[in-house]
Amino acid sequence: MQRFTTILVLTGATLLAACSQPASLQDRLTANDKKIDAVIAQMTLEEKVEMLHSKTNMSSAGVERLGIADMHYADGPFGIREEGVPNGFQSAGWQLDSATYFPTGSALAATWSEDLAYEYGKGMGIEARLRGKDVILGPAVNIQRLPVGGRTYEYLSEDPALSAALSMRYTLGVQDQGTAVCIKHFAVNNQETNRGSVDAQVDERTLREIYLKPFERAVREGGAMSVMPAYNKVNGDYCSENEHLLNEILRGEWGFKGFTVSDWGGTHSTMGAMLHGLNVQMTGSNYLGQPVIDSVKAGALTEELVNEKVRQILRVRYAIEAIPDNVANTQMTSQPECQQIALRVAEKSIVLLKNEGGLLPLAKEVKKIAVIGQNAVLKTQSGGMGAGVKALYEVTPLEGLRKRAGDAVQVLYAPGYKNFPGRRWGPAPATPNPLEAAAIDEPADPALLAEAVALAREADLVIFFGGTNKSIETEGSDRANIDLPVGQNEVVKALYEANPKLVTVLISGGPCDLRELEPVSPAIVQGWWNGTEGGTALAEVLFGDIAPSGKLPFTFPAKLEDSPAFAMGNFPDKTQGGDLFTLMYRQDRTRMSREEIAEMMAKMPKPVSKYTEGALVGYRWFDTKNVKPMYAFGHGLSYVDFSYGEMKAAAGKKSVKVSFPLTNGGKMAADEVVQLYVSRPDATVEWPAKELKAFSRVSLQPGETRTVTLEIPVDDLRYWNVDKNAWDLEHGRLELLLGAASDDIRQKAEVTL
Ligand code: BGC
Repeated sequence: MQRFTTILVLTGATLLAACSQPASLQDRLTANDKKIDAVIAQMTLEEKVEMLHSKTNMSSAGVERLGIADMHYADGPFGIREEGVPNGFQSAGWQLDSATYFPTGSALAATWSEDLAYEYGKGMGIEARLRGKDVILGPAVNIQRLPVGGRTYEYLSEDPALSAALSMRYTLGVQDQGTAVCIKHFAVNNQETNRGSVDAQVDERTLREIYLKPFERAVREGGAMSVMPAYNKVNGDYCSENEHLLNEILRGEWGFKGFTVSDWGGTHSTMGAMLHGLNVQMTGSNYLGQPVIDSVKAGALTEELVNEKVRQILRVRYAIEAIPDNVANTQMTSQPECQQIALRVAEKSIVLLKNEGGLLPLAKEVKKIAVIGQNAVLKTQSGGMGAGVKALYEVTPLEGLRKRAGDAVQVLYAPGYKNFPGRRWGPAPATPNPLEAAAIDEPADPALLAEAVALAREADLVIFFGGTNKSIETEGSDRANIDLPVGQNEVVKALYEANPKLVTVLISGGPCDLRELEPVSPAIVQGWWNGTEGGTALAEVLFGDIAPSGKLPFTFPAKLEDSPAFAMGNFPDKTQGGDLFTLMYRQDRTRMSREEIAEMMAKMPKPVSKYTEGALVGYRWFDTKNVKPMYAFGHGLSYVDFSYGEMKAAAGKKSVKVSFPLTNGGKMAADEVVQLYVSRPDATVEWPAKELKAFSRVSLQPGETRTVTLEIPVDDLRYWNVDKNAWDLEHGRLELLLGAASDDIRQKAEVTL
């Protein structure tokens, strides 16, 4: 792989110095436009067009003759992905590309910490630079619309305000290290079912207020330098050629000055992509290669349009310093500093859902623990497709517990249930693994069950590890349901009968149906896929070295049918469509050309996903419709009690502010995530029952009281007025609801806007 230093490249710092006036982060990207135009003037049409499509599976071309380096991409979003062979995702077999595995998206969101989102981005940025990568394909910030969503674990939250704050800070963290983000998947990519062809039909107000918010803040305030249009269509047009999304909103309204990169295989035409906002086709060149040259020569496209695309790419190329070949990849990717960030995020992400009978933190008297469940030993760094990480190391829950327990506490282990390995890519093994299930709904294995029950009987306390894995929650397909797989309910019931001192730890990225598990689990912890130091963090929480402080970033519905898209009959859509992933796979296997695949896709039924639940996503639906979830959005307990003192509220021209004293009434240091929701008693337009508008993570020593101030910019209280096609403010009474969760409101106040 040929790589060289760009002579014309300016570092981020030079770029900032070049501006005399304070400019938005997007405007700063244009600082070199004059120089860029001079460079473009020296380029041939062929050289320009070379920049508009992939060079390898993870790079697009520069112009060596002019000292412009290639652009190197790396998946994201939880760790810099291992190096692949130039033309595929297979491992290149490198030695130094083991990265830090950061907690997955929903775990990061469970911290509700803007500072940790920044740190996380910083860690990713540091490791990307070591690998010589210019652009991280992340963060992934789509709204978690469906509990079954295959990429729920990659995404942040069901709430736009939480997702937006974290995506903005993640972006700043990455880009401050001199690496660009490629924020994905723009937009309304909320399902994996038929993701390559589905048309997400969403009304404009919902689009603006819910689905675009995380992208908008990352672009406007985070200065995101690149954006990845998603596979799906939005309101009739593929995202990679969606005039409304790419040209009108992203560039027109948000002032985006960088470049767009289609999702891998998500470019669909030459004219559509060129005219409607795409810069780089990934991967392949059948649309943005020779056909662009031919179209310019035939007069169907102007060379000025090609120049504009190149200018937008070069702005980023000049803002990001290319790492020379002899500097990149000279040390191990995973850095101790980044491993510590991963640990801090994991520590603050763990959610204590329930703690009856004071089983947690583990009492000193507990001397023998039975750890049951394969999820205690399963490594979660890989799987799930694009978001897998080759981690330098990964502390599993069992390892973390054993290390923390030391010699004082005996930690026994039994698998309890079979693992579900999911879709296999290679040939089936000659002898089946006795610890692997053939079907996801296979009942509990009697021998494994008996072994686990025997262990539970002899232990002082049982920790059952349930949940899913990355074969079940994965890119490329949605879950069929949210049931606990492979007979886990049967296992946990038998364990509880054997020993009612039972703590359940759920290891999953999205929610599961807990109706059977909850009554037999006095304590329940949501433990996530928590990265390189996940097991360490979990042990710290269970043993009470730190207090749990994560809060749910999404609703745990009692049953799947209660959740909005299911209740409205909007999902699943029964239409069969062309799943892009399957088609790419077929191309590999069958050697069909992209043209043949395009032709095949054109003949396929056109699946749609109707978003008629509108803004009532997640808790907005549950609260408005008075449906009680299993665990509500924002829920999470601590080992201490926090008391919320009297709230003072005031509305100014620019913002609404509340402040109140918060006290840690417990005996250990702990964090509380305070949440401020609003509702509108006099509304004339439709609103959900309440909406999150501000939050803060507050760390308090035992007995400490601190005054907490939360501020809502008035702009964030606006709605998208479809008649005016603009943001609009509805004046009148605003109810402010301060609480510890969406279903735990401690105080109310009223202001008038
Ligand atoms: C995924 C993207 C990913 C890309 C490259 C696609 O299948 O949707 O999220 O960045 O592959 O690996």
